[in-house]
Amino acid sequence: MTRPPDRIFARIARRYDLLNRILSLGREQSWRRRGTTHLPPGRVLDLGSGTGAALPVLEGREVVALDPVPEMLALSPIRLRVVGVGERLPFADGTFDGVFSAYVFRNLTSVEQTLAEVARVLRPGGVAVVVDLARPRGRVAATLHRLGTAVVLPLAGLAAGAPREYWYLHRSLDSLPPPEEMFASGPLRLEALWRMGPLGFVYGAVLRR
Ligand SMILES: C[S@@+](CC[C@H](N)C(=O)[O-])C[C@H]1O[C@@H](n2cnc3c(N)ncnc32)[C@H](O)[C@@H]1O
Repeated sequence: MTRPPDRIFARIARRYDLLNRILSLGREQSWRRRGTTHLPPGRVLDLGSGTGAALPVLEGREVVALDPVPEMLALSPIRLRVVGVGERLPFADGTFDGVFSAYVFRNLTSVEQTLAEVARVLRPGGVAVVVDLARPRGRVAATLHRLGTAVVLPLAGLAAGAPREYWYLHRSLDSLPPPEEMFASGPLRLEALWRMGPLGFVYGAVLRR
């Protein structure tokens, strides 16, 4: 069965990269890059790879792209592409030296299951890097940000001809606990966590098996 987020990404696949660039004021690749500097060389899984926008910042590694939406993967320059979800990874134990995931965690059905799967497919000592959007820390900043995205994202959605999809993006920002809590326990050890972007609404996390 197709999950609602899959239908959303299938509909916006062709406009995804441009809109992402506009909404992040051109910063989305530098936020990915800051994360990928923590990845080891070797074989890396790009979890929720979408259109493969992370490929330039994963240079020199053997990259496997995984995503549940074939319409997104069809636009990807990554050669090794697999349709699948983070909650059930179709790879043997210890397959990867690193796992990278950018702007995906808010869309997962289960963060817990995905982290268990990431731990399983990483070799011992392997590293996972997660980059995603969240609400800023602190009640005032979070409220301001919530008001901002309630206005800006539907307008961007109207411009893109996809208002419902961008309302989903606004709502998804409140769907998970703050990363500082979410990664504090679990099968992977949190090694580093930083905030980026205006009001710190983007985070990067380094997790080691
Ligand atoms: C905002 S896009 C990010 C794409 C890409 N990582 C990037 O940096 O541009 C989110 C992606 O996560 C994928 N996704 C949604 N649910 C997923 C799941 N349960 N497991 C893996 N990927 C998922 C979507 O299909 C979509 O391509």
